[in-house]
Amino acid sequence: MEVRFQNLGPEHWKGDVLLAFACEGEELLQENPELDKAAPWLAVAPALRDFKPKEGALALLHGHPELAIPRVLAIGLGKREDVTPERIRKAVASAVQRCRALGVTSILLPEPQLGRLPGGRERLVEECVCAAQLALYRFDALKKAPKDENPAPEWLALGFDGESVPDGGHAAARRGESAAWAVSLARDLANMPGNLLSPALLAERAATVAEESGLTCEILDEDALAREGLDCLRAVGQGSTRPPRLVVLEYAPAGHEQEKPLILVGKGITFDSGGLCIKPAANMYQMKCDMSGAAAVLASMAALAREGAPRRVVGLLACAENMPDGGAFRPGDVVTAANGDSVEVINTDAEGRLALCDALAWAQKRWTPAAIVDIATLTGACAVALGTGLAGLFCDDDGLAERLGAAGAVAGENYWRLPLWQPYAEQLKSEVADIKHTAGREGGAITAALFLRHFVREGELWAHLDIAGVDWNAKTTPLCPEGASGFGARTLLELMRGGIQ
Ligand code: BES
Ligand code: MN
Ligand code: ZN
Repeated sequence: MEVRFQNLGPEHWKGDVLLAFACEGEELLQENPELDKAAPWLAVAPALRDFKPKEGALALLHGHPELAIPRVLAIGLGKREDVTPERIRKAVASAVQRCRALGVTSILLPEPQLGRLPGGRERLVEECVCAAQLALYRFDALKKAPKDENPAPEWLALGFDGESVPDGGHAAARRGESAAWAVSLARDLANMPGNLLSPALLAERAATVAEESGLTCEILDEDALAREGLDCLRAVGQGSTRPPRLVVLEYAPAGHEQEKPLILVGKGITFDSGGLCIKPAANMYQMKCDMSGAAAVLASMAALAREGAPRRVVGLLACAENMPDGGAFRPGDVVTAANGDSVEVINTDAEGRLALCDALAWAQKRWTPAAIVDIATLTGACAVALGTGLAGLFCDDDGLAERLGAAGAVAGENYWRLPLWQPYAEQLKSEVADIKHTAGREGGAITAALFLRHFVREGELWAHLDIAGVDWNAKTTPLCPEGASGFGARTLLELMRGGIQ
């Protein structure tokens, strides 16, 4: 669905359906005088009088079919004081889905009404455009198109009041489009099943996306990984017939080539069977999403580059497939990470931290980072602790933690800060190696984070996002069908837009 602008004011607006937000206890037309100019017939539409604008309510109102605006979809938001950007996002998404069900080709969203809702005018423009696009997201690459279904509307236009087109209005809409593009790409990648997305194929996809978006992309294959000493990542992949890759993305716009980069590291396990410590069968299929962190890094960086942001960013995707096999790595194995530390493998299902520790260590050899943020579907323990609505945020630096939390809040992706509690690091002491790679079941998200911190040099600004639990959307909602959520892509994009200083 294309995003357009109609700048000339309500008398000139047109579209198959106009979306109008209505709050409880208010007169829609009184609050939004431009609606009367855009669709004068609304004042005499009998259905409007019966509409109760509770949260979630939708009412379709009809004018004469030949009019520039033949329909209005009134969207209930509940009481004005209770309205949040999250509620608006959901409302817009439901409305757009209704529009698709109606089979209309075009949607008009009057912008002035957004200035009267809590959240900030430009923010809401961005949110509405993003939500409208995400409402249409589907992972339909692998199935035949259903015969009886309407195509998505061709365009959504923001209707501006001719007199006062706010300066940032168009840019905000483009940001919303860009954010939705990033989330959709992250979902597409994560939804792709393991048989169709091996580490090498993920790396190839990354190279294509990079090329199209203005990132450079370097791929380290098996030999390069061996040369560079990423033996932990190699160990994870050694049970698979499809060898690991490290993808190195860089965005360095002119004038920023020498800047210290923000480094993003994503877990890219294209399928996690657990390896020899094999997982139970029940939800194993969801482990095709175990590269959601890598997907978020790639998608957010590509979107940032398309936006042309003035900032240098490096992204690493640590890609491998974790499979059981005669050649697989075993519990008890000792492998050496890129920083030279030996690691005792305890449970082959804790493969993510092995992939990440190498990428973290290697990144610090190659660059002087401004900051490092890793993102990973790392521990079931994080999902147990925080449930499916909150991701874990680990960071010793209050400033960076706050910026990440704030970026997440803007993105509608929620984080809860968890402690990097030093005393638990005791549990990672090994009898045979420099560090043991797992501790007990209790506090598993924390000990995983402490394991990663071991590979981050003293004084380095670093944060770890554990997105196990939020990467998979179990139930279809207006903003996301069942399957990969794309969680994290928007947080990282928002963080990078603002810069980390
Ligand atoms: N990819 C999983 C974590 C996960 C679990 C993500 C559920 C999404 C949903 C990770 O590789 C894993 O298996 N972690 C183990 C660690 C344990 C063996 C220390 C876990 O959480 O059980
Ligand atoms: Mn695992
Ligand atoms: Zn995993």
